[in-house]
Amino acid sequence: MIILEKPVINREMIDAAIYSLENEFPLFGESVAKFEEEFAKFCNVDHAVSTASGTDALLFSLLALGVKMPVTTPCSYIATANVAHLAGGKALFADIDSTNNIDPEKIAKTRKFDAVLPVHLHGYPAKMDDIMEIAEKNNVPVIEDACQAHGAIYRGKRAGSIGHVGCFSFNPVKNMTVCSQGGMAVTNDEKLAKKIRMLADSGRESIYSHEHRIIGYSSRLSSAAAAIGRVQLKYLDGWNEKRREAAGEYAGMLDKRILPPLETKEIKPVYNKFAIKISKRNETKEYLLNNNVQCDAHYPIPIHMQEPYKKQKLEFRNAEKFSKTTLSIPMHPEITKKEIKEVSALLADLDIVFGIS
Ligand SMILES: Cc1ncc(COP(=O)(O)O)c(C=O)c1O
Repeated sequence: MIILEKPVINREMIDAAIYSLENEFPLFGESVAKFEEEFAKFCNVDHAVSTASGTDALLFSLLALGVKMPVTTPCSYIATANVAHLAGGKALFADIDSTNNIDPEKIAKTRKFDAVLPVHLHGYPAKMDDIMEIAEKNNVPVIEDACQAHGAIYRGKRAGSIGHVGCFSFNPVKNMTVCSQGGMAVTNDEKLAKKIRMLADSGRESIYSHEHRIIGYSSRLSSAAAAIGRVQLKYLDGWNEKRREAAGEYAGMLDKRILPPLETKEIKPVYNKFAIKISKRNETKEYLLNNNVQCDAHYPIPIHMQEPYKKQKLEFRNAEKFSKTTLSIPMHPEITKKEIKEVSALLADLDIVFGIS
């Protein structure tokens, strides 16, 4: 079986977790503070606050900023939109463009949004310059959902460091993981970081205080998870380079018309997924699975068509087409050239028609 995705877990990470379990307090250990410090440095920002998940990092960012109606993409993991509702508001949607991310022109036509929540889907950065310009014009913050884009670069900046706050997930299908749930919010805004930290810690002023200033949640990253995260972070750039190399191999072998957006001079994607566009998606998926190649669609149902959202009867042409045609094929840092060749050969045998372009 050629597998779709897998976390890299080596002896060094296991030893780091064991060391933490044997030597640190399970929460608020030194590993947590160090992981936050190192992750902030990696993103080139002043502050990083760890949470128990990417969803929580997003939720606390919205709550801390007082955001109720962010405009976001219908093509993401559903948590991106759910957080607006969990924060007591409602997600608004704008259609996607050829990057498979939110289309800035469609954001500009949206009414009554109080924040922009772009997602760097599959590790390919959204058009952040245009997004920041629109947000500035409308005087609203930008919350980057970088849960699939650890280390991606957009015009010299790390994904997640461009908006007012960037949110990451460390669950096991991300470019780096803490081998369980985990998340991080990064920002240059000290006050915002402090508020997010309080929200993650029952509204406490600090861990040594018994004063709870706001209503908060219980969402802490464990010391052992942070210890694993620190080791993973050391390898992240190297792993992302391997993903880009694998993407280059695929690009050389597959029909150009089915390829996802690729690396440019200004954009270094991190290929959390390598998602081809293929009209007979369901048949292709079955065919690959029957040939021992794992694959899946991310995501086959756009968020506005999922049960909690569909009553609004929204329509987004590009998003709907994307959801019908997208198929993620094996991609991870340890995939071999032989495996890429095998998958590409299977795909070359298919009668391929385009998806959106
Ligand atoms: C784009 C996106 N947003 C949000 C999330 C939520 O992250 P988590 O699973 O850590 O809550 C994920 C991950 O599943 C994601 O891919």
